[in-house]
Amino acid sequence: MLTLARSVTHTLSERLAIYQQEGLLRQLRTADESVDFCSNDYLGFARSAELKRAIQQADVNHITARTGATGSRLLAGQTVLADEIEQELARFYGTESALIFNSGYDANIGLFACLPKAGDTLLTDELIHASMIDGARLSYATRHRFQHNNLVDLDTKLQAASLRQSGQIFVAVESVYSMDGDIAPLRELADLCDQYGAALLVDEAHATGIYGSGPDGQNGEGLVTALGLQDRVLARVHTFGKALGVHGAVVVGPAVLRNYLINFARSFIYTTALPPHSLLAIRCAHEQVKSNTMAQQQLKTNLTYFQQRVKDLLPGARWTTSQSPIQCLIIPGNDKARSVASAAQRVGLDVRAILSPTVPVGQERLRFCIHAFNTTTEIDQLLAVLQIALSDKPNV
Ligand SMILES: Cc1ncc(COP(=O)(O)O)c(C=O)c1O
Repeated sequence: MLTLARSVTHTLSERLAIYQQEGLLRQLRTADESVDFCSNDYLGFARSAELKRAIQQADVNHITARTGATGSRLLAGQTVLADEIEQELARFYGTESALIFNSGYDANIGLFACLPKAGDTLLTDELIHASMIDGARLSYATRHRFQHNNLVDLDTKLQAASLRQSGQIFVAVESVYSMDGDIAPLRELADLCDQYGAALLVDEAHATGIYGSGPDGQNGEGLVTALGLQDRVLARVHTFGKALGVHGAVVVGPAVLRNYLINFARSFIYTTALPPHSLLAIRCAHEQVKSNTMAQQQLKTNLTYFQQRVKDLLPGARWTTSQSPIQCLIIPGNDKARSVASAAQRVGLDVRAILSPTVPVGQERLRFCIHAFNTTTEIDQLLAVLQIALSDKPNV
């Protein structure tokens, strides 16, 4: 037995050694007091004293709560609180129903594994998040990828799928892409889906809290709502661990979808539900989005400042096209990307490189997240470091 265990651990070490040789080894790095240009806390909610106080007060007021959910929602974990908050979320996101999952990863795994069945076709943008890919891998549907944000390619694939004439067709996209920060052409995608009778699924992880209804999109319900497409999208996934500063996720859509997920989404059925504390935090974070539009305004101001300074100071650099708080500087090569990130880290700026295979070879990058709380001095310092680091690298 011991010999077997030794041989397995030996194999694991060998695989890790190969990863290290190839410069791919991932390591945990604890966030410190560095200036945050890396987290998804776009609005600063995770560090908001006001939100923290509101959650603490909600915990105190919720005196009957148990500390844990004690079971799956289908068993002991079902509560009036969960139902109430789901109804509030359905109202907030302008839809019939909402079902909370323990994380965005769980939501996508559950949704994609159970919605498209054998005989159905699932068409996914080539840049969708790993959680959707992993969920899709668990489904028995026929799967095809279409080129990123490419409506012509999607049209061709929709045509082919509808000619096969079997089953339903699903199209999956992100509204704001997590690794490029660019935006899906949602209106045109909805038109194409209507044309072929396909159902559109939209992951709003990086749009939640940032885009929405209202003159400046300040209501934060996501891009689907900002464009008034709620009734043309079958399911939206909103995650709460990014701009909302808490944890968990919700799938919103028609009531029948909620019932379906309660019955078939295994990542909903076979897991302990979120504890009351997390549910209350989700409620408080949504109240904060509604009441605190200052953070959204400040984020926009910082983003405009960042983009203007980039134009002035780094005119030749290759950036992804992005109007969102995710701004990516392409630096081909894992080593180069890592060395520029290290230069920023050495002066106290928390900047992370995104390496292949997370992104395709040649598309390695520094992924900056601009936040409402970043100061113009911090942005200037970041760009000054990049100027120096990039000037050492002639082929960047
Ligand atoms: C587009 C997208 N969807 C889903 C997720 C997963 O969400 P969570 O972190 O809540 O599991 C992420 C997180 O990185 C994401 O970027």
